[in-house]
Parts: sequence; C-alpha cells; structure tokens
Amino acid sequence: MVAGNWKMYTTSGEGAVLVQDIAEELERELDDDAIDVVVCPPFTGIKAVSTVIELDHLNMGLGAQDMFWEAEGAFTGAVSARMLTELRCTHVIVGHSERREFFGETDETVNKKVRAVFAAGMTPIMCCGETLATRDALETDSFIRAQVMAGAAGLSAEEAARLVIAYEPIWAIGSGRTPTPESANDVTRAIRATIGAMYGPPAAMQVRVLYGGSVKPENASMFFSEPDIDGALVGGAALKADSFSAIAKAACGK
Ligand code: 13P
Repeated sequence: MVAGNWKMYTTSGEGAVLVQDIAEELERELDDDAIDVVVCPPFTGIKAVSTVIELDHLNMGLGAQDMFWEAEGAFTGAVSARMLTELRCTHVIVGHSERREFFGETDETVNKKVRAVFAAGMTPIMCCGETLATRDALETDSFIRAQVMAGAAGLSAEEAARLVIAYEPIWAIGSGRTPTPESANDVTRAIRATIGAMYGPPAAMQVRVLYGGSVKPENASMFFSEPDIDGALVGGAALKADSFSAIAKAACGK
C-alpha cells in the first residue's frame, strides 16, 4: 500500500486536479492491482476527489485524515463515520503524530477511533512513532509496543488482520531525515510481533505495516525492500503527481 496524506494542503478544486494527475501518471506506470493506492485529502476535498474517482473509474482508495468515534451528536467541528462512508471513503488515518501533538489525541482516543472505523466497514491507518528523545534514550521499542497495544486493543483477530499501521518516527516527518531501512524494519517487525502477541500469527502475517517520514522517490525502494515494510504513508511527496506515482511504482517493484 502507498497512501498519500495531503495534510492541510489543497483546496477542493486543487485536490480534484491532483487526483486526476496522479491517476494519469499511474495509468502509464502502474499495474492497477499490484498495490493499493490511497489518497487522503482534507475533509473539504473528499467529495470532489470522490467524484473524480467514481466518474473516472479509478482503482484508488479514498481516506480521511481523522474521524470522531460517536455516530452523531453535539460535537462541534467533528465528522462521523457515516459522513465519510456516504462519500465512499475506504480508509481513515487515525492517531497521526500531528493530531496527537496539536489536537490532544491520546492512545485512548486513537483506540476508540480505530474501533469506530472498523465498525463502519472502513480500514484504519493507525499511526505510531517515537520522538527523537525517546529514540536517543533507546526506548523506541518499548514505546512503540505500548502505543500499538493501546491503539489496537479490543479488536477481533479478523479486524487486526485488516488493520494498517503506519510507523512514522516523529523526527523523520517533514525533516528530510530518515532512519536506516534496517532500523525502520526493526521497528515494523516489533509492531508485527506485538499484533501477533495480541491476536495470533495469522493477524501478524496479514497486518500491513507502512513506513512514513520523508519518503521520496529516491529512498522509497530502500524501505520497500525490507521484509517487514509493506508500503509507505507519504506526506510532502504525495502532493506532486510525479513524485507520488514514482513512489507507487517503486512499491510495485517490490
Ligand atoms: P513527510 O512525507 O512529509 O515526511 O510526512 C510524513 C507523514 O507524516 C505522512 O503521514
């Protein structure tokens, strides 16, 4: 899977153009079924992007960047699962580090959202990742295991198998710095082992673990060649059709 997190970039109109440009590049470069490609516009762009995907019959998933866990109610500013499924969303990013830092997301709220996304028939892309201080203290492994255990608690084994987890070291996001592919793989392997301990070996085999943080066309295939990395969650490079499609192409070559 290669997923593009557009963050707080693109108006609705810009998003419609971007998804068309991506589709054009992918048609040229990509065997449609080889990988899942998902685009995650801001809420305001979802309808326009969804319309393009439907009218052009694009083989592309559509994700939101957040969702509230309640079905409806007096929750000013929040968006529900039903609002997203009506617009044919297939995925929801949950617990991105920017949501944790700027919007007070906790492991507990992440877990409520993950379960609500599954209950609505969509696929959560649950994010985890350590700060540089945690890494320097050699506590990455225990920190990530705890984040995954809390975020993925209370699922069925079948849901756990369908879960997507994005490992995004916070210090690598938007910084141009990345862990070595080997060290990223160490963490993604630990994430898989954590899911295995919680839900059994089939779930561990099937859960998809992505790497995110300064993924570019130049470094993508290094990450994709690691055995426990199943794709990428891409930020900055997802905002340009040529770089995003080059990353998707690299994933196909895995
Ligand atoms: P960058 O690819 O811009 O580092 O962002 C990664 C990210 O946060 C994707 O969710």
